[in-house]
Amino acid sequence: MNEHESEFVETFKHLHRNPELSFQEYETTAFIKNYLQKLDIEILDVGLETGVVGLLKGAGDGPCIALRADIDGLPIQEESTCEFPSQRPGKMHACGHDTHTSSLLAGATILAALRSEIKGSVKFLFQPAEEINLGAKYMMNHNVLENPRVSAIFGLHNAPWIPCGSVCVKSGPLMAAVDRIIFTIRGKGGHGGIPQGNVDPIVAAAAIIQAAQTIVSRNVSPTDAAVVSICNVKAGEGTTNNVTPDEVKMYGTVRTYKKEVQDMVDQRLTEITQRISAAYGCEGTLQYLRELAVIDNNPCLYDAAFAAVSAVATPVDLVPSTGGEDFSEYLKSDVPGFFYWLGVRNEEQDCVYSWHSPKYKADTRAIAIGGGTYAMSVFAAIKQLKNK
Ligand code: NI
Repeated sequence: MNEHESEFVETFKHLHRNPELSFQEYETTAFIKNYLQKLDIEILDVGLETGVVGLLKGAGDGPCIALRADIDGLPIQEESTCEFPSQRPGKMHACGHDTHTSSLLAGATILAALRSEIKGSVKFLFQPAEEINLGAKYMMNHNVLENPRVSAIFGLHNAPWIPCGSVCVKSGPLMAAVDRIIFTIRGKGGHGGIPQGNVDPIVAAAAIIQAAQTIVSRNVSPTDAAVVSICNVKAGEGTTNNVTPDEVKMYGTVRTYKKEVQDMVDQRLTEITQRISAAYGCEGTLQYLRELAVIDNNPCLYDAAFAAVSAVATPVDLVPSTGGEDFSEYLKSDVPGFFYWLGVRNEEQDCVYSWHSPKYKADTRAIAIGGGTYAMSVFAAIKQLKNK
């Protein structure tokens, strides 16, 4: 692995300098295809506009293991201390998907070199558009877990709070379900100085904002977790100060780990919106959109995952994140899956900032570790599936 490490970092530098936005990853797609072809890995034509599916056939029959990395960047102007910053104004790999892509290309390099030892096959899923929560659905709509059928899938995301050299291996929920909430509260607008003829939707909205806070404090069990955040409130025009508007719109996000908690939050928010609105003479509706399911790591793959990580890094077990990731789309199939957090933190190198920060930076030593994690997951999973 070590002899290739500088090559892996060069790959990362190229990707970091050339970020592309969701569903616009044409050059990244061409770069990945070229890289895989040089390794004699077959490119499967499943009809993707951006993104790549590669297939490496091993030396014998056996299960097909899928490895997934996302490839898109963000509309953010880079302000990090990286020595090879983005060359594209207003675009940046600020979530570190360049680390994931270069890690999976490193994994492909390792697996191609060990092809004769693989008793099965490996499917490489380079996924577009994770940032807009649509890429995994797009891949699944192109049946990427079929032909050949996948027996287990692994993925990873970098973690700026975990030191480089450690990888989180956790059974069960790792990242939360992500729901979008959109409130519409309709009243009757009019002169703000002569309120008696109006029905003020702003007062109703304020009561709904307050009451929504009681869902987490009063309805969710103390041993479960949920987040209800209203992050955007729109009412009135410009800076007018004496016009009561007809309508208030509010937008927010809900995060949960359990289906029953998610269903309860949906029901309570709907009741609060409708009934408080009615009490204030308004009409209130809630759109509750379930965008991402929870990433629930399958316990049947835990031993394989732990063994894989132990071969290349220090495995750690940490509390889940209320962030979301569309790897969960693959887990909606009946294929078992496991998702890792790859440590990229390095305080001496200024690699401390959170995802989507313009100062976000990853320790490049994580790429070889990510590549090793991907590659070893294949061997560990094949071994475990065969012993079943
Ligand atoms: Ni990300």
